[in-house]
Amino acid sequence: MCGIISVLSFKNKISEDLISALERLEYRGYDSAGIAYVDESSKLERIRSVGRVQNLKDIVENLNIGSNLGIGHTRWATHGKATERNAHPHICNGVAIVHNGIIENYQALKKDLLNKGDEFESETDSEAIAKLIAYNINRGNGFVEAFKESIAQLVGTFAIVAIYEKEPNVLLGAKIGSPMVVGLSSDKNSFYIASDAAALASLAEDVSYLEEGDLVAATKTDKLTYEILDSNRKKVLRNVISNATSINDVSKNGYETFMLKEIFEEAIVARRVYDNFSYNINDLKFDGVSIIACGTSYYAGLLAKYWIEEIAKIHVDVEIASEFRYRNPVLSRNLLYIFISQSGETIDTLYAMRLVKEFGSQTVALVNVEGSSLAREADFVIKTVAGTEVGVASTKAFIAQTLSLLLLFADKKNIDISQIESSINFVLNNHYKFAHEAEKIKDSKSLFYIGRGVNYPIALEGALKIKELSYTSAEGYPSGEIKHGPIAIIDENVYTVSIAPFDKNFEKTISNTQEILARNGKILLITTEKAKAYLNELLGDKNLDCLFLPDANSICQPFCIITAIHLLAYYTSKFKGHDVDKPRNLAKSVTVE
Ligand code: G6P
Repeated sequence: MCGIISVLSFKNKISEDLISALERLEYRGYDSAGIAYVDESSKLERIRSVGRVQNLKDIVENLNIGSNLGIGHTRWATHGKATERNAHPHICNGVAIVHNGIIENYQALKKDLLNKGDEFESETDSEAIAKLIAYNINRGNGFVEAFKESIAQLVGTFAIVAIYEKEPNVLLGAKIGSPMVVGLSSDKNSFYIASDAAALASLAEDVSYLEEGDLVAATKTDKLTYEILDSNRKKVLRNVISNATSINDVSKNGYETFMLKEIFEEAIVARRVYDNFSYNINDLKFDGVSIIACGTSYYAGLLAKYWIEEIAKIHVDVEIASEFRYRNPVLSRNLLYIFISQSGETIDTLYAMRLVKEFGSQTVALVNVEGSSLAREADFVIKTVAGTEVGVASTKAFIAQTLSLLLLFADKKNIDISQIESSINFVLNNHYKFAHEAEKIKDSKSLFYIGRGVNYPIALEGALKIKELSYTSAEGYPSGEIKHGPIAIIDENVYTVSIAPFDKNFEKTISNTQEILARNGKILLITTEKAKAYLNELLGDKNLDCLFLPDANSICQPFCIITAIHLLAYYTSKFKGHDVDKPRNLAKSVTVE
């Protein structure tokens, strides 16, 4: 969701840093962008625009801005539409702020400020912060004191950065709930505060993640210094770690889109996960597993349930984090709670974990982003080492999550990583075949994805990807359940992607596929080579669209099917002319409930 960048520097071309960081933050999802800076005559200036960062960049490039202090923001609309008026930064009497998160008491604050004579120009909760800081300065406080006082008056989750034109050598930030990272450039000439380390790729080699309630104040005298105050406003040091996001991670490396690049990394990621996997949970005592996550991460958990129950014979529950949190779950100290999140910041997953921690149960975070909130708060962390994922729709991280979960419960030597790698590579090498099928399904008014066993969560993931990227209504169903309702929708306008590798469920799924064919539904069958010999016998001479994948053993088989459905979704979206990396309305890092 929203992204933050800010800089206090000795160089006066900070607008280049702001824009390049905003470009690296685009992956989080946003609908407007803006910057504010104190110019060479100590005047606060602001530029905002709706739509892509490129629109903002076009304006900024024509201005030849000279400034040592500035803030920037990509906004994903929550309170108020995606308009220029609502875009950040918000300003008031020389104060400018950018904000991620939600200020829950903003109505009360706004009422109070309106009574004091302030006027509001936006519909956002964030504008109240700028007004509040300006009001507290007006009461005779210095900028730092006014900022501290204002932060103390806010209720909600936030990451806030503020600047003030009358104190152009100070940059302030505070965080509760939303992530915040700080870093110095290697020449020590620039200090940055951002919402994630990706924003600082190429700007800061080392970074520190702030803890809950921290406040950071950077000051420029003859050198740049900064101090971090904890929630009791005591000076603290936070770990300095190397910035795990390299500039290479956030470039397309010749691919048309980040998503395509990331799908093409799936075999490499599988190998990397396998080679690096050395976690074991043998010392942890539990007699059941509860997996909690959102979106694609939730489906990774569902897929793992099939494996864990089959291989380790341990009962597994899988839940959507937002539901888990609000249904008064019966918690148990005998369960191992695993929280899956690519970003490590999904607020529902994070709060669900806090609930479990408070209860006193063991928490494991399976995350892809180092230093993320879930990683910092869990008792035990498993890194999925997929590398930075920029495409909003998660792809290679899904492979990394599922394989990590498999390795956590299976004996590593029983997992044939070469087979996983080669089968994924086969799919990638035949990517044009998926493009060909995508042409056919792209105009379907709605889609079903069906599968049995492990192929059911994969069907769910396939349908989610189509919804996210093609904006077509798509549902994933267990093959056996299709006749309990969804079959009523089937007609010649509906495509069903039937996932039926040649496994123990093959014949059953084929017979469910026949039920759809009998009702004139269109079928794209994703199956494996060995099925060829049986298809005629089972389906007669029906002219089916089929994609044949390599056969693999039952544990390894799902991985190449995952790559197949990712490619299919990718091309379907591309052929519909959509922005594959930044699908409308979606955010990669969902930091509001
Ligand atoms: C968003 C993204 C999805 C992602 C989900 C969970 O909805 O668009 O691709 O699966 O969040 O994100 P997480 O970072 O917790 O895995």
